[in-house]
Amino acid sequence: MAVDVLVIGGANTDFLVKGSKLPTVGETVEGDTYYSGPGGKGANQAVAAARLGAKVAFVGRVGADTRGAELVSALAAEGIDVSHVLHDPLGVTGAALVMVEGRGQKQIHTAPGANLLVTVRDVVAAADLFAEAKVVLLQLEVPQAAVETAVRLANAAGARVVLDPAPPRELPDSLLRGVHVIRPNVAEARALTGVEVHDRASAAKAGHQLRERGAKFAVVGAPGGNLLVGPNLERWFAELEIEPVDATGAGDAMAGALAAELAAGHGLEAACEVATAAAAFKTMRLGAQPGLPHRAELEVFRTR
Ligand SMILES: Nc1ncnc2c1ncn2[C@@H]1O[C@H](COP(=O)(O)OP(=O)(O)O)[C@@H](O)[C@H]1O
Ligand SMILES: [Mg+2]
Repeated sequence: MAVDVLVIGGANTDFLVKGSKLPTVGETVEGDTYYSGPGGKGANQAVAAARLGAKVAFVGRVGADTRGAELVSALAAEGIDVSHVLHDPLGVTGAALVMVEGRGQKQIHTAPGANLLVTVRDVVAAADLFAEAKVVLLQLEVPQAAVETAVRLANAAGARVVLDPAPPRELPDSLLRGVHVIRPNVAEARALTGVEVHDRASAAKAGHQLRERGAKFAVVGAPGGNLLVGPNLERWFAELEIEPVDATGAGDAMAGALAAELAAGHGLEAACEVATAAAAFKTMRLGAQPGLPHRAELEVFRTR
């Protein structure tokens, strides 16, 4: 079976409460809406790519518990190959407490659990998938050694690496040199480059620094949009004007779309347009995975 997008990453259960305001430290706030469902950046991005038509395989670990079984069946229900997901009896399935306020802004506290038990051997065991994949899509929710191995195997197999460097962390140039596209938000750009991204010019500064350190392209998140930076290339993709409901998973919609579009053979600029629309679409729905667009929905949304 050919794989378009191979994801090595984290899966969590999201427990979400939405209300008009977020609690401050020590405060209890009564919200209104409760939702729980599958999440985690790796799983969300896998679903995002699959709903846009990519053949996706997911490699990761969940606990040998009910939530883990639920997360894996949610992935399988999207047509994602889960044959390399381990149900680890020593780990608890990852969990995230998500708090969303009136305008859709969110705050998240995670317990990564079994995600941190992903090993280099798990990645090596998926060698057959690397041989088939067009794009390998990575985040930093699993141990860095596993991510580094995935980059190495992807490079050796001729697959392009898309890296969503979240949660924020410094990374060695040796890893960046294997990356085709890196997609940091403001916090991640700060951790990686020390640059405080507050506008297009500072996004360009961060993007060029990531390129000098080895990434081929960078899509740097900034207030109001994302800047694509590449060889002789700088292009701004403004955020779309919509009524936001829940920002959870917007970055995953973007990263998953970038991977799916690249795997389908589209250029990066066209991929960024689709990714921008996918992120905007997601923010209009509650919950990380339920809000991710299917291809047909996204096409309708883009011609609105
Ligand atoms: N209305 C919108 N239109 C287009 N893109 C949006 C919109 N709202 C948010 N986004 C994009 O969603 C992405 C969110 O990514 P990020 O900040 O990494 O958040 P997370 O990964 O936590 O979801 C950003 O690239 C942002 O530009
Ligand atoms: Mg993100």
